[in-house]
Amino acid sequence: MQSQKNIVLFASGSGSNVENIASFFREDSRVRIKGVLCNNPGAGVVDRCKRLKLPLFCFNRPAFQELDGLLHLLRGLEPDLIILAGFLWKIPEDMVRAFPQKIINIHPALLPGFGGKGMYGMHVHEAVLKHGEKESGITVHFVNEAYDQGAIILQEKVVITEGETPESLAGKIHKLEYKHYPEVISNLLFG
Ligand code: GAR
Repeated sequence: MQSQKNIVLFASGSGSNVENIASFFREDSRVRIKGVLCNNPGAGVVDRCKRLKLPLFCFNRPAFQELDGLLHLLRGLEPDLIILAGFLWKIPEDMVRAFPQKIINIHPALLPGFGGKGMYGMHVHEAVLKHGEKESGITVHFVNEAYDQGAIILQEKVVITEGETPESLAGKIHKLEYKHYPEVISNLLFG
Protein backbone atom coordinates (compact mmCIF):
# COMPACT_ATOMS: atom_id res chain seq x y z
CA MET A 1 0.00 0.00 0.00
CA GLN A 2 1.27 3.46 -0.90
CA SER A 3 2.01 5.75 2.04
CA GLN A 4 -0.18 8.69 2.84
CA LYS A 5 0.70 12.05 1.31
CA ASN A 6 0.16 15.41 2.95
CA ILE A 7 -0.75 18.50 0.99
CA VAL A 8 -0.93 22.13 2.10
CA LEU A 9 -2.68 24.83 0.08
CA PHE A 10 -2.15 28.59 0.02
CA ALA A 11 -5.00 30.84 -1.13
CA SER A 12 -5.92 34.53 -1.03
CA GLY A 13 -9.23 34.72 -2.87
CA SER A 14 -12.48 32.93 -3.50
CA GLY A 15 -10.87 29.51 -3.13
CA SER A 16 -12.77 27.69 -5.86
CA ASN A 17 -9.57 25.82 -6.77
CA VAL A 18 -9.12 24.83 -3.12
CA GLU A 19 -12.66 23.44 -3.09
CA ASN A 20 -12.13 21.63 -6.40
CA ILE A 21 -8.89 20.04 -5.17
CA ALA A 22 -10.56 19.05 -1.90
CA SER A 23 -13.43 17.35 -3.75
CA PHE A 24 -11.04 15.59 -6.13
CA PHE A 25 -9.21 13.96 -3.21
CA ARG A 26 -12.20 13.55 -0.87
CA GLU A 27 -12.55 9.82 -1.50
CA ASP A 28 -8.79 9.24 -1.75
CA SER A 29 -7.54 8.07 1.64
CA ARG A 30 -3.93 8.41 0.48
CA VAL A 31 -4.13 12.22 0.46
CA ARG A 32 -4.65 14.46 3.48
CA ILE A 33 -5.17 18.21 3.29
CA LYS A 34 -3.14 19.23 6.32
CA GLY A 35 -3.89 22.92 6.04
CA VAL A 36 -5.17 25.81 3.97
CA LEU A 37 -3.07 28.90 4.61
CA CYS A 38 -4.66 32.24 3.88
CA ASN A 39 -3.40 35.81 4.06
CA ASN A 40 -6.86 37.40 3.95
CA PRO A 41 -9.40 36.69 6.70
CA GLY A 42 -12.11 38.31 4.53
CA ALA A 43 -11.51 36.02 1.54
CA GLY A 44 -14.14 33.62 0.23
CA VAL A 45 -11.80 30.71 0.85
CA VAL A 46 -12.28 31.18 4.62
CA ASP A 47 -16.01 30.36 4.40
CA ARG A 48 -15.30 27.46 2.06
CA CYS A 49 -12.84 25.97 4.55
CA LYS A 50 -15.39 26.25 7.35
CA ARG A 51 -18.06 24.59 5.20
CA LEU A 52 -15.71 21.85 4.00
CA LYS A 53 -14.16 21.42 7.47
CA LEU A 54 -10.65 22.02 6.15
CA PRO A 55 -8.02 23.15 8.69
CA LEU A 56 -7.50 26.87 8.06
CA PHE A 57 -4.58 29.02 9.17
CA CYS A 58 -4.65 32.77 8.57
CA PHE A 59 -1.60 35.01 8.75
CA ASN A 60 -0.91 38.68 8.18
CA ARG A 61 1.85 40.53 6.31
CA PRO A 62 4.21 40.90 9.32
CA ALA A 63 3.97 37.17 10.09
CA PHE A 64 4.64 36.37 6.42
CA GLN A 65 7.63 38.69 6.30
CA GLU A 66 9.06 37.50 9.59
CA LEU A 67 8.50 33.96 8.25
CA ASP A 68 9.99 31.90 11.12
CA GLY A 69 6.62 31.11 12.70
CA LEU A 70 5.11 30.24 9.34
CA LEU A 71 8.04 27.97 8.43
CA HIS A 72 7.69 26.29 11.81
CA LEU A 73 3.98 25.73 11.18
CA LEU A 74 4.66 24.42 7.66
CA ARG A 75 7.37 22.00 8.80
CA GLY A 76 4.97 20.68 11.45
CA LEU A 77 2.39 19.97 8.73
CA GLU A 78 4.99 17.78 6.95
CA PRO A 79 3.83 18.63 3.43
CA ASP A 80 4.74 16.40 0.50
CA LEU A 81 3.49 19.20 -1.73
CA ILE A 82 2.66 22.88 -1.15
CA ILE A 83 0.06 24.09 -3.62
CA LEU A 84 -0.57 27.74 -4.40
CA ALA A 85 -4.20 28.12 -5.49
CA GLY A 86 -4.79 31.80 -6.15
CA PHE A 87 -2.20 32.99 -3.64
CA LEU A 88 -1.16 36.55 -4.38
CA TRP A 89 1.98 37.27 -2.38
CA LYS A 90 5.43 36.39 -3.65
CA ILE A 91 6.86 33.34 -1.90
CA PRO A 92 10.00 34.39 0.02
CA GLU A 93 13.33 32.83 -0.97
CA ASP A 94 13.78 31.20 2.44
CA MET A 95 10.53 29.33 1.99
CA VAL A 96 11.52 28.16 -1.49
CA ARG A 97 14.84 26.93 -0.06
CA ALA A 98 13.07 25.19 2.85
CA PHE A 99 10.87 23.16 0.46
CA PRO A 100 12.90 22.57 -2.72
CA GLN A 101 10.81 21.34 -5.67
CA LYS A 102 7.82 21.02 -3.36
CA ILE A 103 5.95 24.25 -4.07
CA ILE A 104 3.78 24.56 -7.17
CA ASN A 105 1.63 27.38 -8.53
CA ILE A 106 -1.11 27.73 -11.09
CA HIS A 107 -1.11 30.85 -13.23
CA PRO A 108 -4.14 31.83 -15.35
CA ALA A 109 -2.18 32.57 -18.55
CA LEU A 110 0.50 31.07 -20.77
CA LEU A 111 3.76 31.95 -19.02
CA PRO A 112 6.22 33.53 -19.64
CA GLY A 113 3.60 35.92 -21.00
CA PHE A 114 1.40 37.89 -18.61
CA GLY A 115 3.20 36.89 -15.42
CA GLY A 116 5.02 38.66 -12.62
CA LYS A 117 4.07 41.24 -10.01
CA GLY A 118 0.50 42.53 -10.22
CA MET A 119 -0.51 39.79 -12.65
CA TYR A 120 -3.22 37.87 -10.87
CA GLY A 121 -6.84 36.95 -11.39
CA MET A 122 -8.85 39.35 -13.55
CA HIS A 123 -5.84 41.64 -14.13
CA VAL A 124 -4.29 38.84 -16.17
CA HIS A 125 -7.38 38.32 -18.34
CA GLU A 126 -7.77 42.06 -18.91
CA ALA A 127 -4.12 42.33 -20.01
CA VAL A 128 -4.40 39.32 -22.33
CA LEU A 129 -7.47 40.78 -24.09
CA LYS A 130 -5.99 44.28 -24.25
CA HIS A 131 -2.94 42.80 -25.96
CA GLY A 132 -5.14 41.25 -28.65
CA GLU A 133 -4.12 37.66 -27.96
CA LYS A 134 -5.84 34.89 -29.91
CA GLU A 135 -5.38 32.33 -27.15
CA SER A 136 -4.70 32.11 -23.45
CA GLY A 137 -4.50 29.23 -21.02
CA ILE A 138 -3.08 27.95 -17.77
CA THR A 139 0.44 27.25 -16.57
CA VAL A 140 1.30 24.98 -13.66
CA HIS A 141 4.90 25.47 -12.57
CA PHE A 142 7.33 24.92 -9.73
CA VAL A 143 7.89 27.98 -7.59
CA ASN A 144 11.44 29.31 -7.48
CA GLU A 145 12.95 32.61 -6.31
CA ALA A 146 11.67 34.57 -9.33
CA TYR A 147 7.99 35.45 -9.67
CA ASP A 148 6.22 33.09 -12.13
CA GLN A 149 9.52 31.84 -13.61
CA GLY A 150 9.95 28.34 -12.16
CA ALA A 151 10.09 25.22 -14.34
CA ILE A 152 6.85 24.64 -16.21
CA ILE A 153 5.04 21.37 -15.46
CA LEU A 154 1.98 21.79 -17.67
CA GLN A 155 0.34 24.27 -20.02
CA GLU A 156 -3.13 24.02 -21.54
CA LYS A 157 -4.65 26.47 -24.00
CA VAL A 158 -8.05 28.02 -24.69
CA VAL A 159 -9.09 29.91 -27.79
CA ILE A 160 -10.17 33.52 -27.34
CA THR A 161 -13.36 34.08 -29.30
CA GLU A 162 -15.02 37.14 -30.80
CA GLY A 163 -16.50 39.38 -28.09
CA GLU A 164 -14.57 37.67 -25.27
CA THR A 165 -14.70 39.57 -21.97
CA PRO A 166 -12.38 39.23 -18.97
CA GLU A 167 -15.26 37.48 -17.17
CA SER A 168 -15.96 34.97 -19.95
CA LEU A 169 -12.23 34.27 -20.30
CA ALA A 170 -11.94 33.77 -16.54
CA GLY A 171 -14.73 31.19 -16.76
CA LYS A 172 -12.91 29.25 -19.50
CA ILE A 173 -9.65 29.40 -17.56
CA HIS A 174 -11.26 28.22 -14.33
CA LYS A 175 -12.70 25.20 -16.18
CA LEU A 176 -9.20 24.28 -17.37
CA GLU A 177 -7.83 24.77 -13.87
CA TYR A 178 -10.47 22.50 -12.31
CA LYS A 179 -9.75 19.78 -14.85
CA HIS A 180 -5.96 19.82 -14.79
CA TYR A 181 -4.67 21.09 -11.43
CA PRO A 182 -5.83 18.07 -9.37
CA GLU A 183 -4.42 15.71 -12.03
CA VAL A 184 -1.02 17.42 -11.91
CA ILE A 185 -1.05 17.24 -8.12
CA SER A 186 -1.91 13.54 -8.21
CA ASN A 187 0.88 12.86 -10.73
CA LEU A 188 3.45 14.71 -8.63
CA LEU A 189 2.40 12.84 -5.49
CA PHE A 190 2.14 9.35 -6.98
CA GLY A 191 3.99 9.47 -10.31
C1 GAR B 1 -7.12 31.34 -10.37
O1 GAR B 1 -7.58 31.60 -11.67
C2 GAR B 1 -5.62 31.26 -10.33
O2 GAR B 1 -5.06 30.77 -11.52
C3 GAR B 1 -5.26 32.71 -10.14
O3 GAR B 1 -6.18 33.20 -9.22
C4 GAR B 1 -7.42 32.51 -9.44
C5 GAR B 1 -7.95 32.08 -8.09
O4 GAR B 1 -9.26 31.62 -8.20
N1 GAR B 1 -3.90 32.83 -9.69
C6 GAR B 1 -3.12 33.86 -10.00
O5 GAR B 1 -3.52 34.80 -10.67
C7 GAR B 1 -1.70 33.79 -9.46
N2 GAR B 1 -0.88 34.78 -10.09
P1 GAR B 1 -9.94 30.84 -6.98
O6 GAR B 1 -9.67 31.65 -5.73
O7 GAR B 1 -11.38 30.78 -7.32
O8 GAR B 1 -9.30 29.48 -6.91
